[in-house]
Amino acid sequence: MKSEIVIIGAGGHAKVCIELLKAQGDLVAFCIGSADSSDTCLGVPVLKSDEHLTTLRREGYSKVFVAIGSNALRNRLAKTATDLGYELVNAFSPSAVISPSAKIGKGVAIMAGAVVNAEATIDDLCIINTGATVDHDCQIGRAAHIAPQSALAGNVHIGKESFVGIGTKIIPSICVGECVMIGAGSVVISNVDSKTTVVGVPAKAINII
Ligand SMILES: CC(C)(COP(=O)(O)OP(=O)(O)OC[C@H]1O[C@@H](n2cnc3c(N)ncnc32)[C@H](O)[C@@H]1OP(=O)(O)O)[C@@H](O)C(=O)NCCC(=O)NCCS
Repeated sequence: MKSEIVIIGAGGHAKVCIELLKAQGDLVAFCIGSADSSDTCLGVPVLKSDEHLTTLRREGYSKVFVAIGSNALRNRLAKTATDLGYELVNAFSPSAVISPSAKIGKGVAIMAGAVVNAEATIDDLCIINTGATVDHDCQIGRAAHIAPQSALAGNVHIGKESFVGIGTKIIPSICVGECVMIGAGSVVISNVDSKTTVVGVPAKAINII
């Protein structure tokens, strides 16, 4: 079995994740991109079809990191990979601060300067992006994305595949549903229903997805 990691994705988010994995001491073998991807991604060769996931598995690769920004697509491709027998690995920046009492799932990216505080739970496939803070007892659902410089106060719940836009603030004990989009710079002071887009200060719904 090969120990090198296969990255699904070959765009900007993949570049950041490759650097996180290398900083952890992992080796990255290939990125899997699409027909219009560049030939390399941060020096890593790009294979231009999802079919390579199957071929590489047969060749003995068993570790994968899904570096796709879209929450729904990241979740779907992770299922494809795990169904093929791949294991999802984590990518944590050495300059992230992660509480020893936090529970972190698989396939999670935690970027530079992010803070995850006591007894927070980060489910599989989440992105805790650059400089984001997730305070005590927060629960972040599967394949959610907390964008850079967002701040979640204590005991905030974020549903699966929800996106918290860059620079958002969320006050304590707020519940955000599933597949929610929170616009950049929002301040969330009340609960948000699933499949809603909210923006502004305070955040208000602008449409239903
Ligand atoms: C919320 C968001 C997804 C909406 O995008 P969209 O569906 O294309 O919406 P539009 O740009 O058509 O805007 C719709 C309305 O909401 C307003 N709006 C959009 N984003 C807003 C925001 N962040 N704050 C306040 N108002 C916002 C627009 O001004 C517009 O208002 P109007 O109808 O009065 O003109 C997007 O604006 C956004 O904030 N994305 C966050 C991106 C991000 O954080 N990326 C980080 C990647 S790591």
